[in-house]
Amino acid sequence: MDDLRDKYIQAIANASDEAALEELRVQAVGKKGEVSLKMRELGKMTPEERQVAGPALNALKNEINSALAAKKEALADAALDERLRTEWLDVTLPSRNTRQGSIHPISQVTEEVTAIFADMGFSVAEGPQIESDWYNFDALNIPGHHPARAEMDTFYTHRAAGDNRPPHVLRTHTSPVQIRSMQEHGAPIRIIAPGRVYRADYDQTHTPMFHQVEGLAIDTDISMANLKWVLEEFVKSFFEVDNVELRFRASHFPFTEPSAEVDIRCSWEGGTLKVGEGDDWLEILGSGMVHPKVLEAGNIDPSVYQGFAFGVGIDRIAMLKYGIPDLRAFFDSDLRWLRHYGFAALDVPTLHGGLSR
Ligand code: DAH
Repeated sequence: MDDLRDKYIQAIANASDEAALEELRVQAVGKKGEVSLKMRELGKMTPEERQVAGPALNALKNEINSALAAKKEALADAALDERLRTEWLDVTLPSRNTRQGSIHPISQVTEEVTAIFADMGFSVAEGPQIESDWYNFDALNIPGHHPARAEMDTFYTHRAAGDNRPPHVLRTHTSPVQIRSMQEHGAPIRIIAPGRVYRADYDQTHTPMFHQVEGLAIDTDISMANLKWVLEEFVKSFFEVDNVELRFRASHFPFTEPSAEVDIRCSWEGGTLKVGEGDDWLEILGSGMVHPKVLEAGNIDPSVYQGFAFGVGIDRIAMLKYGIPDLRAFFDSDLRWLRHYGFAALDVPTLHGGLSR
């Protein structure tokens, strides 16, 4: 028995792979293995002999089995170490095929807008795309009977029969993020909130899902003059021109008072759009001084704080800046379109490095 033990323990220690190990298992403790055959001989022994040989054989079988298990684990560890050593990849190497993928104009423009406002001290806020009607409407001073609710072509979610709570909506604008941000951070506050919004509408300049960026700045002394400067800085940086002329047109939004729509001076000469010159005006955003009721909904005291807000269509300014004529193509996932209008994956827009190059 000592010979058997020495033979197998030694062989197991020397096994170079799992197949060799399996062969040893069959040879030693398999059905017709040497140890198993010895155990079968127990029947022919006298009870006295059996009392000695039985436990000894069992102990040997156990010892061989544990040696097999331990070696199997050691081989697996070694195999993993070997894989980790040989399959190592230098992720800091410069990439070779970056021209295969591209950044979608919406992502590009969102990054550009974020870079510009970050430079002016705005941080980025987010909110849910499935929103309660309170955040999407009531908190923004759009009560149930208000025409703005109907005008927005809202998508409503389903409620079970008998559930009389108002349904959630797919947010129709990014303005509810104003309320959420004020509630979360209080005043003073300076945020932008880019994201997806939804309205039931479909033609060359409307898709049921599109993108807006909301802006909000609240403090004790913020005025319409600050709004005007911020928007002028934004438009100059975004369109990468030295001079822009903005026209503030009196307008009405339930969540701002006073409200202004902002047009940008442009020309369409030769069929291409040039920003900052010409005799045409193009509407690019809505804005105004935040309504006291909206501040209250955000738990901010309107007798102490005031501020401005604005909402820009990201898709719209992307079409303008990059000369993309049809909004619907943005969401067709047509590779030829993406290659044509997409941006190099490694060119991250920054103010110092250039927004669009
Ligand atoms: N929420 C408006 C819309 O979707 C856009 C807007 C207008 C946002 C004026 C504002 C604002 O923050 O002050 O049409």
